[in-house]
Amino acid sequence: MANLIPIYYLGKKHMVPEGVTIMGAIENSGHRLVRGCGCRGGFCGACATVFRIPGDHQIKVGLACQTRVEAGMDVAILPYYPAQKVLYDFKTVTDPARALQTMYPEMYRCLGCSACNKICPQDLPVMDIIAEAQRGNLPAVAELSFDCVMCGLCASRCLAQMVPYNIAMAARRLYSHSMLLGPDYVGVRIREIEQGVYDRQIDALLEKSQEELQKLYAERDIECI
Ligand code: FES
Repeated sequence: MANLIPIYYLGKKHMVPEGVTIMGAIENSGHRLVRGCGCRGGFCGACATVFRIPGDHQIKVGLACQTRVEAGMDVAILPYYPAQKVLYDFKTVTDPARALQTMYPEMYRCLGCSACNKICPQDLPVMDIIAEAQRGNLPAVAELSFDCVMCGLCASRCLAQMVPYNIAMAARRLYSHSMLLGPDYVGVRIREIEQGVYDRQIDALLEKSQEELQKLYAERDIECI
């Protein structure tokens, strides 16, 4: 039987099994997470969590589905953090770098404090990402921010009150839409679909039940790369 250790969730003490994740511990304590819980695999960023350890002055952060409990930790999950997100229409964009700078001018208020780097649970170089965005270097922003899970923690700490993850997401979208050429086979396949080459197969799929579709999906060929 696992050792039990105390943690505090929303100020209330719970005895939880040692070695489990914060998310597992909270659910083990009888809470049902309706918000602040998504993929459970460290990908969706829904479970951004702040905590303190007794005797340590630092605020620590992590993803609740990935971070293991420690004795005495005082935990709060941040299921949502208010964030500014600019709406944009790719069709009107002629200069993607300039468009990003116009959409998020607050990026030039960055103080270089590095709080975003320190809080990122993915260990991304958030400050560098913003510096590249300021320079209009969208390929670099896309590359550096590729593993962002948009948990919101950088926005919670930014002294300039910007939302780094939305800036990076806009940069990735602008880059892939306006600067990256898609692979040839995508165009070929789209043309084939438009010409009706796959109509028979698509009709056959539409007639299948959900169970049959699930079975087909589970048994599909998986390309290894
Ligand atoms: S639940 Fe998706 S990252 Fe934790």
